[in-house]
Amino acid sequence: MAIRQLPPNLINRIAAGEVVERPASVVKELVENAIDAGASRIDVTATAGGLQLICVADDGAGMSAGDLELAIERHATSKLAGDDLSHILTLGFRGEALPSIGAVARLVITSRAKDAHEAFQISVDGGRKSPRKPAARAAGTEVEVRDLFYATPARLKFMKSERAEAAAISDQVKRLALAHPEIAFSLSTGDRTTLRLEASPPGLLDHGLARLGRILGADFVEDALPVSASRGAVTVEGFAGLPTLHRPNGLNIYLVVNGRPVRDKLIAGTVRAAYGDLVPRGRYPMLALFLDVPPDEVDVNVHPAKTELRFRDANGVRSLLIGALRDALGAAGHRATGSLAQDALHRMAPPSSMPSPPSGARSYQSYARPPHAGLAERAQAPFEGVAAPSADMRGAATEDETPSGYPLGAARAQVQDTFIIAETGDALVIVDQHAAHERLVYERLKSALANGGISRQMLLIPDVVELDADAAGALLAASDELERLGLVIEAFGAQAIAVREVPALLGTCDVKGLLNDLAGTLMEAEDGDGARTLSERLDHVLSTMACHGSVRAGRRLSPQEMNALLRDMEQTPFSGQCNHGRPTYVELKLTDIEKLFQRR
Ligand SMILES: Nc1ncnc2c1ncn2[C@@H]1O[C@H](COP(=O)(O)OP(=O)(O)OP(=O)(O)O)[C@@H](O)[C@H]1O
Ligand SMILES: [Mg+2]
Repeated sequence: MAIRQLPPNLINRIAAGEVVERPASVVKELVENAIDAGASRIDVTATAGGLQLICVADDGAGMSAGDLELAIERHATSKLAGDDLSHILTLGFRGEALPSIGAVARLVITSRAKDAHEAFQISVDGGRKSPRKPAARAAGTEVEVRDLFYATPARLKFMKSERAEAAAISDQVKRLALAHPEIAFSLSTGDRTTLRLEASPPGLLDHGLARLGRILGADFVEDALPVSASRGAVTVEGFAGLPTLHRPNGLNIYLVVNGRPVRDKLIAGTVRAAYGDLVPRGRYPMLALFLDVPPDEVDVNVHPAKTELRFRDANGVRSLLIGALRDALGAAGHRATGSLAQDALHRMAPPSSMPSPPSGARSYQSYARPPHAGLAERAQAPFEGVAAPSADMRGAATEDETPSGYPLGAARAQVQDTFIIAETGDALVIVDQHAAHERLVYERLKSALANGGISRQMLLIPDVVELDADAAGALLAASDELERLGLVIEAFGAQAIAVREVPALLGTCDVKGLLNDLAGTLMEAEDGDGARTLSERLDHVLSTMACHGSVRAGRRLSPQEMNALLRDMEQTPFSGQCNHGRPTYVELKLTDIEKLFQRR
């Protein structure tokens, strides 16, 4: 076939394929344009997950009649003064967004320039432009996008559920709003407003902080550690959540570079490294970091959706971040234990039969660590909280034959209401009671589900939990599924959920924490790459439930209870690791203890 020059409509549709991946990308482009136009308030409406209508209205600079006509042309932008791509201070710079959107949807732009007396409207329908006409509007711009992807049906097939698309839009608006606290934002689904954020002008004492609280939650602001550091002309400011404040997905990691929300791999990897194993495997910290980098030291033109960056001095940025985060976290007293304890920990290996990750022996933090006992405090008072004098314990143990009769031995003591110390014929076993119990609850939930159903326990007074609209929506959308798993919920006002029944196996559990985590799990499952199978999703939900049903961290156990837990573990599949892949117990051979004391 001979080479031919493609017609402009097709070119635009191809470009749209990169720029506009889903409704949330349209919202992103339009809100970015409003921010670039100097708006002080931005109102977003998205119905049917943005597939029916997306409308973004701003009170920014607006466009003159002539500019309006240029705005829908490809490669037409007001944001590049010269030919220099190395000093980009605006969010947009390519002049691609509007023509791309117009190529795959019905686009109508109404705008009035700041000091103009009249407004104009122009429309593009699947690439077909209509001439501009006079309109009525206050200063600013309103962009309406209807029937997204109607011109490219193939793309429509890739859309997730309306709810998942709506959640992605909400996430996008939150990310942009977090980066621009000086702008008021609202997000509505057409019949109700799901997000309303007042402007907090720069210069106010808590500029930005109030918004952080609205987006990441008041708990976050209260518990977060301030981060502030600089290296050369690069600065980082923000807040890092305590390692104990973790979530099942990375949605609560907010990174902003020069006012642009990004999902940069370098930064994400650095954050992971800085938290190391302070956060359990598979869990993510909460974080809002704002980087300021001289524009010529960062290239924003490396990704079609402008969500990734290239730093000129990537290593410098990396070490700045690591240093800043480590300082913040270290100041909170979560530093590693002393060298003797480290040495001992190195000698404690998971039993060879246990399928455990290589660094397992060191990542032993209890997920539901009792709030009063940070690692540092524990180190200062190592023996406080031992459950009972060992004489009593011996009594308990001799009732069950000799210690060596059981693989996990006989319980000798409980430390910090969190760890069980047991003795076998030739080793000392330390059990993380929460992790172990969590695994047991999980396996029991799974087998109950397989054998006819999970029994429920009615709450005397329904527990009402306030959540953000997306989290509440995700839970309600899954309410049938959750009911089968023993959790009965219903809507309670716009942003709250009433919990009527919980799985009986969970006992008294932290319902608020459970719902928050479940919502996170469900949203992640919905938005993950490739739809998860129903059973994978169930496993995830069950595992989240089990985690919250395991009340035994921070609880004093009787010798009988401890031994019962050990015996249960021996009989339960996979009991060597908890649902997060961390070990539930470690074993220190007597020969290794002897080495530790240099007897060998
Ligand atoms: N809300 C708005 N208010 C004022 N002017 C706008 C608005 N939206 C778009 N424009 C004008 O239309 C032009 C084209 O917008 P478009 O989003 O297509 O490209 P861009 O923002 O310049 O670059 P990019 O493709 O990277 O977003 C902008 O450069 C700007 O001048
Ligand atoms: Mg733009």
